[in-house]
Amino acid sequence: MGTCVVRRTALLILLVSVVVSGGCTNNRTDLDYSYNIEQRIPNDGDLPGDMIQFEQVFWEPSDSASLRKLIREDSIAQGRRVLEIGTGTGVIALTCAEHGAKQVIATDINPAAVANARYNAANLDLEQNLEIRQVDEATPGAFSVLQGEPRFDLIISNPPWEDGDIKRPLDYAFYDPGFELMDSILDGLPNHLSPGGRCLLTYGHVPAIERLQAEATRRGLQCKVLDDRDLKALPKDFLPGMLVELRLGRDLIPNDAASRDE
Ligand SMILES: C[S@@+](CC[C@H](N)C(=O)[O-])C[C@H]1O[C@@H](n2cnc3c(N)ncnc32)[C@H](O)[C@@H]1O
Repeated sequence: MGTCVVRRTALLILLVSVVVSGGCTNNRTDLDYSYNIEQRIPNDGDLPGDMIQFEQVFWEPSDSASLRKLIREDSIAQGRRVLEIGTGTGVIALTCAEHGAKQVIATDINPAAVANARYNAANLDLEQNLEIRQVDEATPGAFSVLQGEPRFDLIISNPPWEDGDIKRPLDYAFYDPGFELMDSILDGLPNHLSPGGRCLLTYGHVPAIERLQAEATRRGLQCKVLDDRDLKALPKDFLPGMLVELRLGRDLIPNDAASRDE
């Protein structure tokens, strides 16, 4: 009974906010309004309006502050084809769409996150070049929902950072069981990243970054930390997150890749 009242109140607040914001209207049958609202997030200048965070969806903007700064100030998404793996509320993908990306595909394995990102995209009127895809729990690989799209210029993610078990959908934000997601990103880059493209991953966890560096190097990827801080001097968990750039090493670039991507 109590949960029912909270859910109905949250839905009412959402519908009122939709009408007040002048964004998407509640007659959109393709949006999922069944999730409770955790909070309304005031616009910080990256986006054309406020965002909504649904319950069971990750929110820690300082994790991705440096990545969003590059998108906003250095135009790294401008005119580019972008893939975001694990979009949550959609904050990074929406920032790419707002700052000139030619196309953005964003994925998430948590259905609440997919509903949340789709809602924010509609409400901020940023749907035109942005598509949000649901990843199936049975096929959680980083590129499993691609449908033969050409290589991406920019592949980005603020991935879960610890090896751990998933007990509820929100756990996917924190835990990467067996680091399968991290490894699937690294294994898939030679097939999905443009020869001159880059993959930017943001982490705020020392062991995850050290593992990423070792596994990327082992696979022949170029790996560079884009941060002045000394990883060894940081606490195990830290904020804001640190950006790691991955590029295809010379041996991983197929000879015919350039012509195929045209
Ligand atoms: C740390 S959160 C980051 C969310 C958002 N990008 C942000 O910065 O606020 C990681 C996200 O990755 C998603 N995720 C975890 N495993 C995934 C997978 N195998 N495929 C797609 N998304 C996944 C989680 O559900 C979560 O939304």
